[in-house]
Amino acid sequence: MLEFNTIAELRKALKAERSKGKTTAFVPTMGYFHDGHLTLMREAKKRADCVVVSIFVNPTQFGPNEDLDKYPRNLERDRSLAAKVGVDFIFIPTVDEIYPKGYSTYIDVEGITNALCGRQRPGHFRGVATVVTKLLNIVQPDIALFGEKDWQQLIVIKRLVSDLNMDVEIIGIPTVREPDGLAMSSRNSYLSAEERSAALVISKSLTLAANMVDRGEASASKIASALKELIEKEKAVKLEYLEICDPETFAPVEEIKADTLVAIAAWVGKARLIDNTIIRPKLENPGNLG
Ligand code: PAJ
Repeated sequence: MLEFNTIAELRKALKAERSKGKTTAFVPTMGYFHDGHLTLMREAKKRADCVVVSIFVNPTQFGPNEDLDKYPRNLERDRSLAAKVGVDFIFIPTVDEIYPKGYSTYIDVEGITNALCGRQRPGHFRGVATVVTKLLNIVQPDIALFGEKDWQQLIVIKRLVSDLNMDVEIIGIPTVREPDGLAMSSRNSYLSAEERSAALVISKSLTLAANMVDRGEASASKIASALKELIEKEKAVKLEYLEICDPETFAPVEEIKADTLVAIAAWVGKARLIDNTIIRPKLENPGNLG
């Protein structure tokens, strides 16, 4: 695995790969790897000749009172995990390399960023969209992989790539979970043992939503009430939002008639955790279809 810290050096190396006809896959990250990140890298490895991973804790996507300074970091461990998975190039730029003096250009994806996490974290998706656009321009990969754990982020990135006519395929990868269901996240490291077990109620509530639709429940408000009731039983978990909405537009859904997103954000101690699932209505009388 080769490491690059400057855009110029990375570009030179990537140009050489492309001139040999190699395809490239890109996985942008903020580091502190867990199996979710490593799964994206393994999938990248299956789909392209050369896998590029970036580690950059992007200051523009953190609000003034958020955890930018405390965000967990361990570059030594990240380097060795990425090398083991077979990553070819790792790009670890400084903040000045990405946002040099005089930097003034930002990407705003309108509409869909006013919902869910965008509503709770003003400016967050402006920072994400800006850094991802820059990284895609730097790496110019054939494909880039993102986790469905950050569902809204994935939809925002697909939107900007389409709107800006960027020549890259965006691939979503299902959420990787701990054996007990907790969605993997770098921020899980903020949790005490008790908080971690309380946090399980988040994924459990998503399972409850899926079970309710499987049993034929179609009312979003009934599903939302049942999930809230379950989550409120865990005093250590403070629900920030629970939305049942269209997976592409994030418009609220009242009746589950098609694929529907259930998205949750909750505070557990110092950790803001997010998770989601897609619920699918059960086909009524499938025997009558043909
Ligand atoms: P980060 O939180 O480090 O996540 C990097 C990538 O890993 C994202 O695509 C995220 O969706 C994915 N990921 C995180 N947890 C996952 C899990 N449990 N299962 C599957 N995939 C998971 O997301 C970011 O960084 C940043 O916003 C970034 C896109 C790098 C822009 O700064």
